[in-house]
Amino acid sequence: LVASFQPKLLAGKRVLITAGPTYEAIDPVRGITNLSSGKMGYAVARAAREAGAEVTLVSGPTALETPHGVRRIDVQSAQQMLDAVMAGIHGQHVFIGVAAVADWRVENASEQKIKKDGSGTPQLQFAQNPDILATVAGTTSLNGWPYCVGFAAESENLIAYGAAKREKKGIPLLVGNIGHHTFGQDENSIVLFDDSGHTVLPQASKLQLARQLVSEIAKRLEQRSL
Ligand code: CTP
Ligand code: CA
Repeated sequence: LVASFQPKLLAGKRVLITAGPTYEAIDPVRGITNLSSGKMGYAVARAAREAGAEVTLVSGPTALETPHGVRRIDVQSAQQMLDAVMAGIHGQHVFIGVAAVADWRVENASEQKIKKDGSGTPQLQFAQNPDILATVAGTTSLNGWPYCVGFAAESENLIAYGAAKREKKGIPLLVGNIGHHTFGQDENSIVLFDDSGHTVLPQASKLQLARQLVSEIAKRLEQRSL
């Protein structure tokens, strides 16, 4: 019901969002993931949809329902998430990387289940995953689109790390939060970093924060197209 009262700040805009954790296989029955529940990314998808956008949600494994009116593509690994994002990125006005993408995958994943056969513990080797957000932000054939928004989960020094991460990724807007305060929770507080500094959005439900974020993005999109 509340949704119908939201101003249609993103009417006519296409928004692509990543959400949730990724899952990196060790063997066919085991893998490595993280504590992301997907709640924030799904809240952002819902808020963008409420604001009138056409929303695509590329989601790692979560236990959440697809927000009403949102197109959802399910993936597991970071590589699959990158492939799904790049397949859908052309024509998008906004990209929001909310997913907690695994930084590394298991390079020597086993095709069969690893057995306790007395030969010792598995020796996993890791390879670095592609950076989805940086790939989108750096794809020159997209001519400066979409408007890219990142998320950063830190465990300390949020203000310094957040500002540095935004610059390093080459994106106009980054949302910072403290990982162990947000993963799995219904509420959070976030910090928005842009080229003029940072703004704190105090403790609120993820949906309320997502709606505030969507209106901040809409404001910046408007300035950009002037
Ligand atoms: N991200 C991504 N692909 C990756 C890693 C991160 O798209 N392989 C995106 C996340 O979705 C998020 C942003 O980059 O929007 C920041 O993620 P974060 O893990 O905080 O930053 P990293 O650059 O991975 O740096 P680090 O984990 O070393 O702090
Ligand atoms: Ca990371």
